[in-house]
Amino acid sequence: MPGIKDVAARAGVSVATVSRALNRHPSVSEDARSRVLAAVEELGYRPNAVARSLRTDQTRTLGLVISDVLNPYFTELARAVEEEARSLGYSVIIGNADERPDLQDHHIRTLRDRRIDGLLVSPTDGGTPLLLDTARAGTPVVFVDRWIPGADDVDVPVVRSDGRDAVRELVAHLHRLGHRRLAIIAGPAATTTGSERVEAFREALAAHGLELPDAYIGQGDFQAESGRRATERFLDLSEPPEAVFAADNLMALGALDAVRSRGLRVPHDIALAAFDDIPWFVHTDPPVTAIAQPTGELGRAAVRALVDRIEGRAARSVTLPARLVVRRSCGEGREGGGTPPENGPRPGNGTEPQKRSNP
Ligand code: HPA
Repeated sequence: MPGIKDVAARAGVSVATVSRALNRHPSVSEDARSRVLAAVEELGYRPNAVARSLRTDQTRTLGLVISDVLNPYFTELARAVEEEARSLGYSVIIGNADERPDLQDHHIRTLRDRRIDGLLVSPTDGGTPLLLDTARAGTPVVFVDRWIPGADDVDVPVVRSDGRDAVRELVAHLHRLGHRRLAIIAGPAATTTGSERVEAFREALAAHGLELPDAYIGQGDFQAESGRRATERFLDLSEPPEAVFAADNLMALGALDAVRSRGLRVPHDIALAAFDDIPWFVHTDPPVTAIAQPTGELGRAAVRALVDRIEGRAARSVTLPARLVVRRSCGEGREGGGTPPENGPRPGNGTEPQKRSNP
Protein backbone atom coordinates (compact mmCIF):
# COMPACT_ATOMS: atom_id res chain seq x y z
CA MET A 1 0.00 0.00 0.00
CA PRO A 2 1.47 3.39 -0.95
CA GLY A 3 2.37 5.71 1.92
CA ILE A 4 2.63 9.44 2.34
CA LYS A 5 6.36 9.31 1.43
CA ASP A 6 5.50 7.77 -1.96
CA VAL A 7 3.04 10.57 -2.62
CA ALA A 8 5.64 13.18 -1.65
CA ALA A 9 8.24 11.60 -3.97
CA ARG A 10 5.81 11.39 -6.90
CA ALA A 11 4.65 15.00 -6.43
CA GLY A 12 8.17 16.31 -5.84
CA VAL A 13 7.32 17.92 -2.50
CA SER A 14 8.05 17.21 1.17
CA VAL A 15 5.93 14.91 3.37
CA ALA A 16 4.86 17.98 5.37
CA THR A 17 3.61 19.65 2.19
CA VAL A 18 1.56 16.57 1.30
CA SER A 19 -0.02 16.66 4.74
CA ARG A 20 -0.76 20.38 4.50
CA ALA A 21 -2.11 20.05 0.97
CA LEU A 22 -4.52 17.32 2.05
CA ASN A 23 -5.66 19.45 4.97
CA ARG A 24 -6.21 22.44 2.63
CA HIS A 25 -3.65 24.53 4.48
CA PRO A 26 -3.52 28.02 2.90
CA SER A 27 0.30 28.04 2.79
CA VAL A 28 0.37 25.41 0.01
CA SER A 29 0.39 26.81 -3.52
CA GLU A 30 -2.29 25.75 -5.99
CA ASP A 31 0.39 24.17 -8.16
CA ALA A 32 1.80 22.03 -5.32
CA ARG A 33 -1.68 21.04 -4.22
CA SER A 34 -2.62 19.92 -7.75
CA ARG A 35 0.55 17.81 -7.98
CA VAL A 36 -0.18 16.22 -4.60
CA LEU A 37 -3.78 15.42 -5.54
CA ALA A 38 -2.63 13.95 -8.87
CA ALA A 39 -0.06 11.75 -7.06
CA VAL A 40 -2.73 10.63 -4.56
CA GLU A 41 -4.97 9.67 -7.47
CA GLU A 42 -2.24 7.89 -9.46
CA LEU A 43 -0.97 5.87 -6.48
CA GLY A 44 -4.39 5.18 -4.96
CA TYR A 45 -3.14 6.59 -1.65
CA ARG A 46 -5.56 6.41 1.35
CA PRO A 47 -4.62 8.45 4.44
CA ASN A 48 -4.15 6.42 7.61
CA ALA A 49 -7.06 7.47 9.82
CA VAL A 50 -5.45 6.14 12.99
CA ALA A 51 -2.20 8.06 12.39
CA ARG A 52 -4.21 11.15 11.57
CA SER A 53 -6.29 10.89 14.75
CA LEU A 54 -3.11 10.58 16.83
CA ARG A 55 -1.79 13.74 15.20
CA THR A 56 -4.96 15.80 15.36
CA ASP A 57 -6.56 14.27 18.46
CA GLN A 58 -9.73 13.88 16.40
CA THR A 59 -11.25 10.68 15.05
CA ARG A 60 -13.96 12.29 12.91
CA THR A 61 -16.23 9.68 14.49
CA LEU A 62 -19.54 10.25 16.27
CA GLY A 63 -21.24 7.85 18.68
CA LEU A 64 -24.99 7.32 18.45
CA VAL A 65 -26.64 5.45 21.31
CA ILE A 66 -30.29 4.72 20.66
CA SER A 67 -32.76 2.99 22.91
CA ASP A 68 -34.11 0.35 20.51
CA VAL A 69 -32.72 -0.31 17.06
CA LEU A 70 -35.69 -2.58 16.24
CA ASN A 71 -38.11 0.31 16.65
CA PRO A 72 -38.58 1.71 13.11
CA TYR A 73 -38.61 5.25 14.49
CA PHE A 74 -35.05 4.84 15.75
CA THR A 75 -33.98 2.98 12.61
CA GLU A 76 -35.05 5.94 10.50
CA LEU A 77 -33.39 8.33 12.92
CA ALA A 78 -30.12 6.35 12.73
CA ARG A 79 -30.19 6.39 8.94
CA ALA A 80 -30.57 10.18 8.84
CA VAL A 81 -27.81 10.60 11.43
CA GLU A 82 -25.39 8.46 9.45
CA GLU A 83 -26.21 10.28 6.19
CA GLU A 84 -25.79 13.76 7.61
CA ALA A 85 -22.61 12.80 9.45
CA ARG A 86 -21.11 11.36 6.27
CA SER A 87 -21.91 14.55 4.37
CA LEU A 88 -20.00 16.50 7.03
CA GLY A 89 -17.00 14.15 6.92
CA TYR A 90 -17.80 12.08 10.02
CA SER A 91 -18.44 8.35 10.53
CA VAL A 92 -20.93 7.01 13.05
CA ILE A 93 -20.69 4.07 15.46
CA ILE A 94 -24.13 2.97 16.60
CA GLY A 95 -24.86 1.37 19.97
CA ASN A 96 -28.26 -0.18 20.67
CA ALA A 97 -29.23 0.07 24.35
CA ASP A 98 -32.30 -2.14 23.94
CA GLU A 99 -34.00 -0.01 26.62
CA ARG A 100 -31.38 -1.23 29.14
CA PRO A 101 -29.41 1.38 31.13
CA ASP A 102 -26.53 -1.10 31.67
CA LEU A 103 -26.18 -1.61 27.91
CA GLN A 104 -26.36 2.12 27.38
CA ASP A 105 -23.43 2.58 29.77
CA HIS A 106 -21.51 -0.23 28.08
CA HIS A 107 -21.84 1.57 24.73
CA ILE A 108 -20.87 4.93 26.19
CA ARG A 109 -17.73 3.41 27.75
CA THR A 110 -16.78 1.67 24.52
CA LEU A 111 -17.33 4.81 22.47
CA ARG A 112 -15.27 6.90 24.87
CA ASP A 113 -12.47 4.31 24.65
CA ARG A 114 -12.58 4.75 20.91
CA ARG A 115 -12.13 8.48 21.31
CA ILE A 116 -15.27 9.55 19.50
CA ASP A 117 -15.43 13.29 18.87
CA GLY A 118 -19.00 13.57 20.16
CA LEU A 119 -22.02 11.61 21.30
CA LEU A 120 -25.67 11.63 20.27
CA VAL A 121 -27.94 9.89 22.76
CA SER A 122 -31.59 9.11 23.16
CA PRO A 123 -31.42 8.23 26.85
CA THR A 124 -32.79 4.92 28.03
CA ASP A 125 -34.77 4.96 31.25
CA GLY A 126 -34.10 8.28 32.99
CA GLY A 127 -30.49 8.38 31.81
CA THR A 128 -27.49 7.22 33.83
CA PRO A 129 -24.83 9.07 35.88
CA LEU A 130 -22.20 7.98 33.35
CA LEU A 131 -24.05 9.76 30.58
CA LEU A 132 -24.12 13.06 32.44
CA ASP A 133 -20.55 12.59 33.66
CA THR A 134 -19.45 12.13 30.05
CA ALA A 135 -20.95 15.50 29.18
CA ARG A 136 -19.47 17.09 32.33
CA ALA A 137 -16.04 15.74 31.42
CA GLY A 138 -16.13 17.75 28.20
CA THR A 139 -17.23 15.27 25.53
CA PRO A 140 -19.69 17.11 23.27
CA VAL A 141 -23.11 15.48 23.80
CA VAL A 142 -26.48 16.15 22.17
CA PHE A 143 -29.75 14.52 23.25
CA VAL A 144 -32.02 13.44 20.44
CA ASP A 145 -35.72 12.58 20.84
CA ARG A 146 -35.51 11.84 24.58
CA TRP A 147 -33.67 14.01 27.06
CA ILE A 148 -32.89 14.20 30.76
CA PRO A 149 -34.91 16.85 32.59
CA GLY A 150 -33.37 18.52 35.61
CA ALA A 151 -29.76 18.02 34.50
CA ASP A 152 -29.31 21.77 34.55
CA ASP A 153 -25.62 21.78 35.36
CA VAL A 154 -24.73 20.17 32.03
CA ASP A 155 -25.05 22.06 28.83
CA VAL A 156 -26.47 19.48 26.45
CA PRO A 157 -28.59 20.69 23.52
CA VAL A 158 -31.82 18.74 22.93
CA VAL A 159 -33.13 18.01 19.44
CA ARG A 160 -36.67 16.67 19.62
CA SER A 161 -40.15 17.09 18.33
CA ASP A 162 -43.05 18.50 20.28
CA GLY A 163 -46.11 16.33 19.81
CA ARG A 164 -48.39 18.37 22.05
CA ASP A 165 -50.28 20.16 19.26
CA ALA A 166 -50.61 16.97 17.25
CA VAL A 167 -51.98 15.09 20.29
CA ARG A 168 -54.48 17.91 20.80
CA GLU A 169 -55.45 17.61 17.15
CA LEU A 170 -55.81 13.83 17.48
CA VAL A 171 -58.09 14.12 20.52
CA ALA A 172 -60.23 16.71 18.71
CA HIS A 173 -60.39 14.31 15.76
CA LEU A 174 -61.50 11.41 17.99
CA HIS A 175 -64.03 13.65 19.71
CA ARG A 176 -65.43 14.76 16.35
CA LEU A 177 -65.83 11.12 15.38
CA GLY A 178 -67.96 10.60 18.48
CA HIS A 179 -65.46 8.86 20.74
CA ARG A 180 -65.66 9.88 24.38
CA ARG A 181 -64.00 7.07 26.33
CA LEU A 182 -60.38 7.52 25.34
CA ALA A 183 -57.47 5.44 26.64
CA ILE A 184 -53.71 5.58 26.23
CA ILE A 185 -51.00 2.95 26.18
CA ALA A 186 -48.12 4.89 27.70
CA GLY A 187 -44.37 4.43 27.44
CA PRO A 188 -42.12 4.23 30.52
CA ALA A 189 -42.71 7.23 32.78
CA ALA A 190 -38.95 7.60 33.33
CA THR A 191 -38.45 8.59 29.69
CA THR A 192 -39.47 12.05 28.54
CA THR A 193 -41.27 10.61 25.52
CA GLY A 194 -43.17 8.28 27.87
CA SER A 195 -44.29 10.95 30.32
CA GLU A 196 -44.84 13.82 27.87
CA ARG A 197 -47.25 11.88 25.66
CA VAL A 198 -49.49 10.95 28.60
CA GLU A 199 -49.49 14.53 29.85
CA ALA A 200 -50.29 15.90 26.40
CA PHE A 201 -53.13 13.37 26.09
CA ARG A 202 -54.53 14.19 29.52
CA GLU A 203 -54.43 17.93 28.79
CA ALA A 204 -56.10 17.46 25.42
CA LEU A 205 -58.89 15.39 27.01
CA ALA A 206 -59.41 18.06 29.66
CA ALA A 207 -59.90 20.66 26.92
CA HIS A 208 -62.95 18.61 25.88
CA GLY A 209 -64.17 18.15 29.45
CA LEU A 210 -63.03 14.51 29.42
CA GLU A 211 -61.08 12.70 32.12
CA LEU A 212 -58.38 10.09 31.85
CA PRO A 213 -59.22 7.50 34.53
CA ASP A 214 -56.40 5.26 35.77
CA ALA A 215 -58.13 2.24 34.22
CA TYR A 216 -57.66 3.91 30.83
CA ILE A 217 -53.91 4.27 31.23
CA GLY A 218 -52.10 1.14 30.15
CA GLN A 219 -48.50 1.05 31.31
CA GLY A 220 -46.37 -0.09 28.39
CA ASP A 221 -42.66 -0.21 27.64
CA PHE A 222 -42.64 0.88 23.99
CA GLN A 223 -42.64 -2.80 22.92
CA ALA A 224 -45.43 -4.59 21.01
CA GLU A 225 -46.12 -7.15 23.73
CA SER A 226 -46.92 -4.43 26.27
CA GLY A 227 -49.36 -2.87 23.77
CA ARG A 228 -51.07 -6.22 23.42
CA ARG A 229 -51.36 -6.74 27.19
CA ALA A 230 -52.65 -3.22 27.85
CA THR A 231 -55.27 -3.57 25.12
CA GLU A 232 -56.43 -6.91 26.47
CA ARG A 233 -56.91 -5.29 29.87
CA PHE A 234 -58.90 -2.44 28.29
CA LEU A 235 -61.12 -4.95 26.48
CA ASP A 236 -61.75 -6.83 29.71
CA LEU A 237 -63.14 -3.74 31.45
CA SER A 238 -66.88 -3.62 31.99
CA GLU A 239 -66.77 -0.35 30.09
CA PRO A 240 -63.88 -0.56 27.62
CA PRO A 241 -62.58 2.56 25.91
CA GLU A 242 -63.97 3.53 22.53
CA ALA A 243 -60.56 4.63 21.28
CA VAL A 244 -56.99 3.75 22.21
CA PHE A 245 -53.96 5.92 21.58
CA ALA A 246 -50.70 3.95 21.58
CA ALA A 247 -47.72 6.11 22.49
CA ASP A 248 -45.47 4.41 19.97
CA ASN A 249 -45.78 2.40 16.79
CA LEU A 250 -44.77 -0.99 18.26
CA MET A 251 -47.37 -0.80 21.03
CA ALA A 252 -49.94 0.10 18.35
CA LEU A 253 -49.07 -3.10 16.47
CA GLY A 254 -49.52 -5.08 19.70
CA ALA A 255 -52.89 -3.37 20.22
CA LEU A 256 -54.02 -4.28 16.68
CA ASP A 257 -53.10 -7.90 17.38
CA ALA A 258 -54.98 -7.96 20.68
CA VAL A 259 -58.13 -6.59 19.09
CA ARG A 260 -57.95 -9.13 16.26
CA SER A 261 -57.23 -12.06 18.53
CA ARG A 262 -60.52 -11.32 20.32
CA GLY A 263 -62.36 -11.50 17.01
CA LEU A 264 -62.97 -7.75 17.14
CA ARG A 265 -62.20 -5.15 14.50
CA VAL A 266 -60.51 -1.77 14.37
CA PRO A 267 -62.21 0.68 14.07
CA HIS A 268 -65.66 -0.92 14.20
CA ASP A 269 -65.30 -2.22 17.73
CA ILE A 270 -62.55 0.03 18.99
CA ALA A 271 -60.63 2.90 17.40
CA LEU A 272 -56.83 2.99 17.39
CA ALA A 273 -54.29 5.74 16.80
CA ALA A 274 -50.52 5.72 17.20
CA PHE A 275 -47.67 8.05 17.97
CA ASP A 276 -45.06 7.76 15.19
CA ASP A 277 -45.96 7.11 11.62
CA ILE A 278 -44.15 4.16 10.11
CA PRO A 279 -44.17 3.10 6.45
CA TRP A 280 -46.35 0.02 6.98
CA PHE A 281 -49.17 1.90 8.72
CA VAL A 282 -50.38 2.57 5.18
CA HIS A 283 -50.55 -1.17 4.53
CA THR A 284 -52.19 -2.42 7.74
CA ASP A 285 -55.90 -3.19 7.74
CA PRO A 286 -57.14 -0.60 8.44
CA PRO A 287 -54.42 1.96 7.66
CA VAL A 288 -53.49 3.56 10.97
CA THR A 289 -54.13 7.19 11.89
CA ALA A 290 -50.85 8.36 13.38
CA ILE A 291 -48.84 11.29 14.64
CA ALA A 292 -45.84 11.70 12.37
CA GLN A 293 -42.56 13.16 13.56
CA PRO A 294 -40.08 14.77 11.17
CA THR A 295 -37.71 11.93 12.07
CA GLY A 296 -35.16 12.42 9.31
CA GLU A 297 -34.97 16.15 9.97
CA LEU A 298 -34.50 15.48 13.70
CA GLY A 299 -31.57 13.18 12.99
CA ARG A 300 -29.95 15.68 10.64
CA ALA A 301 -30.47 18.60 13.03
CA ALA A 302 -28.99 16.57 15.88
CA VAL A 303 -25.83 15.85 13.88
CA ARG A 304 -25.48 19.50 12.88
CA ALA A 305 -25.81 20.58 16.52
CA LEU A 306 -23.22 18.03 17.61
CA VAL A 307 -20.75 18.93 14.87
CA ASP A 308 -21.22 22.63 15.65
CA ARG A 309 -20.28 21.87 19.22
CA ILE A 310 -17.32 19.67 18.25
CA GLU A 311 -15.99 22.33 15.90
CA GLY A 312 -16.32 25.08 18.47
CA ARG A 313 -19.45 26.82 17.21
CA ALA A 314 -22.52 27.59 19.32
CA ALA A 315 -25.10 24.80 19.24
CA ARG A 316 -28.74 25.38 20.05
CA SER A 317 -31.58 23.06 21.06
CA VAL A 318 -34.11 22.44 18.30
CA THR A 319 -37.79 21.55 18.66
CA LEU A 320 -39.75 20.60 15.56
CA PRO A 321 -43.51 20.05 15.35
CA ALA A 322 -45.20 16.67 14.78
CA ARG A 323 -48.37 16.38 12.70
CA LEU A 324 -51.48 14.25 12.59
CA VAL A 325 -51.88 11.92 9.60
CA VAL A 326 -55.52 10.87 9.33
CA ARG A 327 -56.22 7.42 7.88
CA ARG A 328 -58.98 4.96 8.73
CA SER A 329 -58.31 3.34 12.12
CA CYS A 330 -60.50 5.74 14.10
CA GLY A 331 -63.72 5.33 12.14
CA GLU A 332 -62.98 8.06 9.62
CA GLY A 333 -65.23 8.09 6.59
CA ARG A 334 -68.05 6.26 8.31
CA GLU A 335 -71.22 8.25 8.35
CA GLY A 336 -71.74 9.76 11.76
CA GLY A 337 -68.15 8.99 12.73
CA GLY A 338 -68.33 7.01 15.94
CA THR A 339 -71.83 5.61 15.55
CA PRO A 340 -72.17 1.85 16.15
CA PRO A 341 -70.94 -0.18 13.19
CA GLU A 342 -73.15 -2.13 10.89
CA ASN A 343 -71.94 -5.50 12.16
CA GLY A 344 -72.60 -5.05 15.84
CA PRO A 345 -72.40 -2.65 18.75
CA ARG A 346 -69.09 -1.48 20.12
CA PRO A 347 -67.90 -3.14 23.32
CA GLY A 348 -68.92 -1.70 26.61
CA ASN A 349 -72.10 0.04 25.60
CA GLY A 350 -74.23 -2.39 27.53
CA THR A 351 -74.51 -5.10 24.91
CA GLU A 352 -71.91 -7.77 24.31
CA PRO A 353 -70.26 -7.51 20.90
CA GLN A 354 -70.90 -10.38 18.51
CA LYS A 355 -67.61 -12.23 18.44
CA ARG A 356 -66.10 -11.28 21.74
CA SER A 357 -64.45 -14.20 23.43
CA ASN A 358 -63.02 -13.37 26.81
CA PRO A 359 -60.29 -15.67 28.07
N1 HPA B 1 -39.76 5.37 22.22
C1 HPA B 1 -40.38 4.67 21.28
N2 HPA B 1 -40.75 5.20 20.15
C2 HPA B 1 -40.48 6.48 19.96
C3 HPA B 1 -39.84 7.24 20.92
C4 HPA B 1 -39.45 6.66 22.09
O1 HPA B 1 -38.86 7.29 22.97
N3 HPA B 1 -39.73 8.49 20.44
C5 HPA B 1 -40.27 8.47 19.23
N4 HPA B 1 -40.73 7.26 18.94
